[in-house]
Amino acid sequence: MKETSVAGETITFPEATGEAGKEVARPDRHGTMDGTGWHRRVVLVTGSNSGFGRLTAETLARRGHTVFAEMRESAGRNAAAAEGLREVVEGEGSNLRVVDLDVTLDESVERAMAEMVGEAGGVDVVVNNAGIFFVGPLEAFTAEQARGQFDVNVFGAMRVNRVALPHMRERGGGLLVHIGSVLGRLALPFFGLYAASKFALEGLTEAYRRELRPFGIDAVIVEPGTYPTEMNSKRAEPADGARVAVYGEHLKAFVGRFVEAAVEAGGDPQVVADAVVGLIEAPAGERPLRTVVAPGGQDRGPVALNRAAEGAVRDLLDAMGLASDLEARLARMEAGSSGGRA
Ligand SMILES: NC(=O)c1ccc[n+]([C@@H]2O[C@H](COP(=O)([O-])OP(=O)(O)OC[C@H]3O[C@@H](n4cnc5c(N)ncnc54)[C@H](OP(=O)(O)O)[C@@H]3O)[C@@H](O)[C@H]2O)c1
Repeated sequence: MKETSVAGETITFPEATGEAGKEVARPDRHGTMDGTGWHRRVVLVTGSNSGFGRLTAETLARRGHTVFAEMRESAGRNAAAAEGLREVVEGEGSNLRVVDLDVTLDESVERAMAEMVGEAGGVDVVVNNAGIFFVGPLEAFTAEQARGQFDVNVFGAMRVNRVALPHMRERGGGLLVHIGSVLGRLALPFFGLYAASKFALEGLTEAYRRELRPFGIDAVIVEPGTYPTEMNSKRAEPADGARVAVYGEHLKAFVGRFVEAAVEAGGDPQVVADAVVGLIEAPAGERPLRTVVAPGGQDRGPVALNRAAEGAVRDLLDAMGLASDLEARLARMEAGSSGGRA
């Protein structure tokens, strides 16, 4: 058994058995099961050329899952990353394919999914990891920039989910993983636009979870704290420099200190990949809606908020007299749906 500690909780990974890439004893509706009961899943990971996405794709491939490592421009700008990813898992018999996907383009998402379904016969898990990071005072961003932030972090996930869900339903189960952020629970000054996109992802995940339950499809969100990936070096600045200048030293000092604190926290991004893999390998019905993974005490606020939020949707449904009706409908739909769970 492999263990990792996430927000003070210990996650235990089931042991991967059987050799990666080898024929398995019997096919299963949700991934493939070998003679020992080990489920190998067909997983799509967006933004897998760097950071959490790359580590997640590698870790999944090494544990015997079939991985579609999606990235932009795998034969161009990201060619070295694509090659590196193939090399890392090559020779280990791992089943990893690099596929081009830009989450802001409908046709790119549709093409990537068609390729995946053509090759693997379906999809069990989507990891919506691709993300961009806008930093600066809210008033200094144009509406177009704000749309750009949401187009990747929010609409991108919706695009990918939209093409994946019919295939998951056909298989009778699946899992949508969203990479949120501690900043999706708590908004800090100058990180507001990014935070708003991650807050949106929280809302979507909460709703997906209930909407998709009758189909045996799970939805979860992972909330990382600060980790040294390429996110900060790729960060986007506001278009309106004059508005930025109004904030002067205050802005520079706050963002500078934030970046320093992130470096000091010294987290290992592999912990985030391990948490994602742990959720994918956890039995359906046992995955928490939210998982905080954060270094240096950054988890305290989000964990407290998440605890407080547990049962809050149920309370609202109760207050509106909707709970029992909804539960009864979901139960009837579940009973009527043919599949099991991923
Ligand atoms: N690192 C942190 O401290 C932290 C904390 C909380 C949450 N997160 C979240 O974690 C996720 C991964 O970020 P990371 O930290 O690993 O940073 P990263 O190394 O910069 O990875 C971001 C990935 O998203 C990809 N991407 C951006 N726009 C895309 C698009 N239109 N289509 C497809 N892929 C696109 C990037 O590809 P290109 O290289 O081609 O741009 C890159 O592969 C993001 O959602 C981020 O918001 C990160």
